[in-house]
Amino acid sequence: MLKGKKIVLGVCGGIAAYKAVELLRLYVKAGAEIFVVMTRSAQEFVTPLTFQTLSGNPVHTDLFSLYQEREIGHISLADRADLFVVAPATANVIGKVAAGIADDLLTTTLMATKASVLFVPAMNVNMWENPLYRQNEEKLSALGYHFLEPVTGALACGWEGKGKLPDPQAIFEESEWLLGNADLAGETVLVTAGPTREELDPVRFLSNYSSGKMGFAIARAARNRGARVILIAGPTCLNPPCGVEFHAVVSALQMRDAAMAWMEDASIVIKAAAVADYRPVTSSREKIKKEKTREMTVHYQKNPDILAELGQVKGERILVGFAAETEDLLENARKKLVEKNLDLIVANDVTQAGAGFDVDTNIVRLLYRDGAVEDLPQLSKDEVAHILLDRIAVMRGKDREE
Ligand code: CTP
Repeated sequence: MLKGKKIVLGVCGGIAAYKAVELLRLYVKAGAEIFVVMTRSAQEFVTPLTFQTLSGNPVHTDLFSLYQEREIGHISLADRADLFVVAPATANVIGKVAAGIADDLLTTTLMATKASVLFVPAMNVNMWENPLYRQNEEKLSALGYHFLEPVTGALACGWEGKGKLPDPQAIFEESEWLLGNADLAGETVLVTAGPTREELDPVRFLSNYSSGKMGFAIARAARNRGARVILIAGPTCLNPPCGVEFHAVVSALQMRDAAMAWMEDASIVIKAAAVADYRPVTSSREKIKKEKTREMTVHYQKNPDILAELGQVKGERILVGFAAETEDLLENARKKLVEKNLDLIVANDVTQAGAGFDVDTNIVRLLYRDGAVEDLPQLSKDEVAHILLDRIAVMRGKDREE
């Protein structure tokens, strides 16, 4: 989504300036072209050479030296930006922009740009809460500037509180969202992801190898394309993507209740979760002690098939399922498509290298209601997510413009 986009990255002076280096790497990895502007104090924390080496472009630091170029430097920087990100943004720079002051390269370029601007503030918690700062942020927000809030934690100044720069990954995702083609605006996408856990006793459970990566990638991509996203996930190690409504569940029964409740709001439902098909008939309240039995037999009962239940009440919604198979891929997937009343099923052979659980790539086949089958090559889960959403957008009559 960021491929070929031009991003001006403004870096202000703060201890979090080093995190802008990691952010730059994420942008470059995604194929964006980055032009870095540093304030004088930013250069006390990180050298321009670091940004220059990683971006492959000269770093801009000085308002007046750029006048020696053929173009007027700050205007050309301001014009070429598809997005302008200031991270970390200090109270000083935000205050200057709010007051219309343009007295260095960064503030002058910000004044001249017509691109969307994302400020990612990082500062001491008392500065963050200071009414002067709050007024400046409110004023700029009302004017259409975007802000990504700092997170709470131990601050470099020794205080504990709100003021830390968010993870570079969160800033990256916010940038993707701002640059996204909003072809799913107006849609509400319900995604389920991850495994479920079926408790045997307070310390043991039945589950599967699902990491949640595919479902989280779909949620992230849908949000970046302008949809409201509701993500229901079983236990995973992943952070919920920025800007999605996140509901954590543990068991299949909890996932069913949450999915049925949130289904009401959704226009598109994508069921990427690997639901455990069975749960123990009884779950012990106490830890099962090994002295009591030499052998143990556990009786399981079937969990509800959430997707099949959703299929019965889907109405006009688009309903998409996944089929994790180890044999007879097409035949088994088609059976699920029909029996669960789906519009589309994403089938994958989980035994193939580079596909299935807990890897970053997937090799899938898309099976449609009319019998059509589309084979996709090995792709990252983010790419699979976007292709899937492209196809869904067509079904909703919202063909994507590139
Ligand atoms: N699914 C579900 N509820 C279940 C089991 C599966 O909603 N109790 C959904 C999954 O989220 C997925 C689809 O059904 O979208 C297919 O899941 P999969 O595990 O491939 O197949 P099952 O239907 O469980 O059938 P089987 O285990 O026999 O292959």
